[in-house]
Amino acid sequence: MDKFVIRGGKKLSGSIVISGSKNGTLPLMAAALLTRGVTVLRNTPYLRDIQTLSNVLRVVGARVYGGARTVRIDTRHCNHFEAPYDLVKTMRASFYMLGPLLARYGRVRVSLPGGCAWGPRPVDLHLKGLEALGANVTVAHGYVEATAKRLTGGVFKFDKVSVGATANVVMAATLARGVTRLINTAQEPEITFLVQVLNKMGARIRHTRDGVEIRGVDRLRPVNVSVIPDRIEAGTFIAATTLCGGKITLKNCPSAHLGSTIEAFEKAGAKIQVRKNSLTVEGPAKVRPLEIATAPYPGFPTDLQAQMMALLSVAGGTSIITDTIYPDRFTHVPELNRLGANIRLQGNAAVILGVKALSGAQVMATDLRASAALVIAGLKAGGETHLSRVYHIDRGYEKIEEKFRALGASVKRTMDGPVEPAVPADA
Ligand code: UD1
Repeated sequence: MDKFVIRGGKKLSGSIVISGSKNGTLPLMAAALLTRGVTVLRNTPYLRDIQTLSNVLRVVGARVYGGARTVRIDTRHCNHFEAPYDLVKTMRASFYMLGPLLARYGRVRVSLPGGCAWGPRPVDLHLKGLEALGANVTVAHGYVEATAKRLTGGVFKFDKVSVGATANVVMAATLARGVTRLINTAQEPEITFLVQVLNKMGARIRHTRDGVEIRGVDRLRPVNVSVIPDRIEAGTFIAATTLCGGKITLKNCPSAHLGSTIEAFEKAGAKIQVRKNSLTVEGPAKVRPLEIATAPYPGFPTDLQAQMMALLSVAGGTSIITDTIYPDRFTHVPELNRLGANIRLQGNAAVILGVKALSGAQVMATDLRASAALVIAGLKAGGETHLSRVYHIDRGYEKIEEKFRALGASVKRTMDGPVEPAVPADA
């Protein structure tokens, strides 16, 4: 199994290009099922999650051809309507198969994704939303089965903002008969982009004051689109530079999609300059403490919570991070403490007492974003950090060690012992 050996203590400098968005690509791959023909997605990141969803699509009969930057999905031969447990358990986003398959073929069977490394991840809003469109939904033996001769437009209010449920129900409603009104939908850039792409496919979706309105159409056509850049990857490199110091430029950076992220890192001391297609960040001499809570977009993303915690661990004072979206998403805390941080948990909040320095240690990646936090903490720590189980990071960051090396950091990938068993799904 691969691990990273990180020699910390260097400032970062230089420039890198931000890859296409993982969470922007995954729903588009499922949306291809709403059409008959070949959908082409460009600027896709080369990641394990993209390969996993490609395999799920292959199970239903789609032909998926993936290169480093382009994924082609041919849906002309889809003939099977099930996403099996073996694949869904490794990646929750496989649940995106539900809405499109139901809308296009009138039936679907998808394994329940189950929990993840940091606690339960329910799917009730996905199911209730589809029921509001007339679907007959049953849950048995670990599978969700849904049928509907043809979905019909309806009104549904999400009682919690959910990215995945919004995507699933919006995709399903595009082919429903009549008008659907969805209230309290997620506003994340990946959702706005999905809506744009669905409209390009021929859907009729418009944003309303409190959600979206969808006029169902009879069919959608395949498209050729370029995926938006990854705002979480960009945020991770901003966090690393704020922590390690130095000055870097992020090219192809989705600054307009960073919501309150830029402001949060500026409060922590970063100097950030936004240009049309790039962003420059300069780290401070000393990180400033913060009180911050995660929130749906445009709030501070839960997917950057762990990375923010890594940098606040050396702030000049006490910080508090509250995760309002995933109250248990703190598996990185004991690992950061192994590197010398002083963090304790109080319910869904972490109290971070800034320490003078971090020191290298053996640590373990526990999920995708937690591993990113450990990489950047390792880059700051004195001495050597050995980070095991980096397969987590390969799910969502394209060649992160090469990008950090291009910025002058010392991160080496090595092999470490036998392959371990599969792990539970997470973000
Ligand atoms: C997506 C992102 C993930 C990110 C998360 C929150 C992808 C592939 N993953 O995950 O990286 O961390 O958004 O920004 O895009 N909830 C329910 N019932 C449901 C669905 C969700 O109660 O049926 C709750 C969740 O427990 C959580 C909140 O809603 O508290 C938000 O979750 P959601 O936005 O659905 O997360 P995902 O779409 O799974």
